Amino acid sequence: MIRTLLHVGMTVPELEIGKAFYELFGLQSRVVGNDLVFRCEGRAQDQIRLMQGAKKKLSYTAFGTDASGMQVLLANLDRAGVNKAPSPFGESEGIWFQDPHGDWINVQIAEAAPSALQPPVEINAPGHYRRIGERACDVSSLKKRARPRRLGHLIKFTPDVERSVAFYTKVLGMKVSDQAQGVLAFLRGAAGGDHHMVAFAKSSHTGLHHLSFEVGDIDEIEIGAQTLLRAGYRDGFGLGRHVGGSNYFHYIRDPWNSLVEYFWDIDVIAEDDNTWVPMNVAPEEVVAVWAQTPPPLEFVVNFEERE
Ligand SMILES: [Fe+2]
Repeated sequence: MIRTLLHVGMTVPELEIGKAFYELFGLQSRVVGNDLVFRCEGRAQDQIRLMQGAKKKLSYTAFGTDASGMQVLLANLDRAGVNKAPSPFGESEGIWFQDPHGDWINVQIAEAAPSALQPPVEINAPGHYRRIGERACDVSSLKKRARPRRLGHLIKFTPDVERSVAFYTKVLGMKVSDQAQGVLAFLRGAAGGDHHMVAFAKSSHTGLHHLSFEVGDIDEIEIGAQTLLRAGYRDGFGLGRHVGGSNYFHYIRDPWNSLVEYFWDIDVIAEDDNTWVPMNVAPEEVVAVWAQTPPPLEFVVNFEERE
């Protein structure tokens, strides 16, 4: 059913602080009503909607499905006794309901918008020399900056990982790609694609762990991260490469102590893949093949206030 991640809605105390951060991160903003909406350059799809509120909170997640997926989803919600409700956030598209821990979900009949940006140059790896007669870098590379292509995934804190996984798989049609059972679970969409669209991490209460944006190459991960660090934003974790999903990463703390991640080279799984075997390992085994430093203790802290 759930085929794509469309955008997230977040409440923050000061929109201007969010505008400065996410624009330096590489997104483009515009004012819509009382809110600030962020998109990736060259892509007509909202990715973050910031709403004014007393404190920072991940308010909702919007997903896309197709017409037949919506029919199945509506039947599943009925069967699970989940009530649909009018949007508490003033958006009228699609259907709105809450997951077992009260987090709002919006599902629309919508596809992922294409990116108008040029794809990055090919990679030369042993046995796979694909960039022949073409430079990867020239003096124009000195002006390179991070250009996020799309919001790829988010990790949500949950007080009950198993309960969240059960709901997002059985009712929303997602699939488990890898997990550290009861502590961390990576879920991909019903149509396959990225190794994870949503992941759940154990905490005392719900909240946002991180939003993650795909960039063009590993250079953009570090150029983006270093730009934010030079501007005084706080380091999160990275550079490194994850085990779960295989993506290279660097996390930076947003102004409210959640994380945003630049990622590149994530594992992709086909919709009809019957051969993928999910790992079920210790949490520390899925974090990083390598990283510049070990993850700081606060990497797994839920800074979102309990309701
Ligand atoms: Fe991530």
